[in-house]
Amino acid sequence: MPLDEHRRANRDNWDDRVPIHWDSPVYDVAGFVADPARLSEEVAFDAPLLGDVSGKRLLHLQCHMGRDTLSWARLGAEVTGVDFSAPAIAAARRLSAASGTPGRFVVAELYDSPRMLPEAFDIVYTGVGALNWLPDIRRWAEVVAGFLAPGGLFYIREGHPMLWSLDWRDDAALVVRYPYFETAEPIVDDDPGTYAGPGTVTHARTYEWNHGLGEVVTALVDAGLQITGLREFRELEWQGLPQMTQGEDGRWRLPQEQRDLVPLMYSLWARRP
Ligand SMILES: C[S@@+](CC[C@H](N)C(=O)[O-])C[C@H]1O[C@@H](n2cnc3c(N)ncnc32)[C@H](O)[C@@H]1O
Repeated sequence: MPLDEHRRANRDNWDDRVPIHWDSPVYDVAGFVADPARLSEEVAFDAPLLGDVSGKRLLHLQCHMGRDTLSWARLGAEVTGVDFSAPAIAAARRLSAASGTPGRFVVAELYDSPRMLPEAFDIVYTGVGALNWLPDIRRWAEVVAGFLAPGGLFYIREGHPMLWSLDWRDDAALVVRYPYFETAEPIVDDDPGTYAGPGTVTHARTYEWNHGLGEVVTALVDAGLQITGLREFRELEWQGLPQMTQGEDGRWRLPQEQRDLVPLMYSLWARRP
């Protein structure tokens, strides 16, 4: 499927990030390969929330280099990961082979993935840092619902739209700078760096969209899913704002006086009837 200018630019940016992330201590590919019991920090957090995945057909949307996807495989799921970055999918296949963890990986743009993968799954999973790359949350929800078998479970943990609306360059106050709601026009950024550096990308320009929590919930309900849970969190796995500090559990929190002011992440559960 031909990509529009925004998603082409985003894909070029993600393609560039893959070799940087492969060598990054954040993804710790060597550690994941060396220890067959190792899970990504994300899946270690999500596993008790999502429940038993063993024997389930699990689809991971926007799977990047497949570390989370393969972590679900280590917990017994039969996994498929999709992502529009061919280098990311190649890296995921390499990680699967090197670690001896079985997984299937498919190159597909999110909105085009039902055409590339006409199958149903018991669980559809999406991890942090995915929805902000998508222009249309209602069409996304239709994709999610279409992939679920009857009775199937969708689980997502995402950065909270309130977090994405904050000025991450302000080091003390919580300043709302970006739209909370989905907008037709994307938020444009020119950042050659990446969260799992060091290293810089050639294609620095990216286009992102925020999606309000109500928009996400309504889109999933309108796509035919039943929301069965929604939790908001005061913590992150990364330093999302300069004033955050890291706890002994490795997670990042706002200073005490700001901690109850804004949610930073959410988890949402939904079932296809
Ligand atoms: C932050 S990563 C996902 C992170 C995942 N939690 C991890 O750390 O491995 C976002 C992923 O979304 C993918 N992506 C962005 N826009 C996409 C689109 N329109 N279709 C499919 N994949 C997309 C990127 O290639 C990237 O691998």
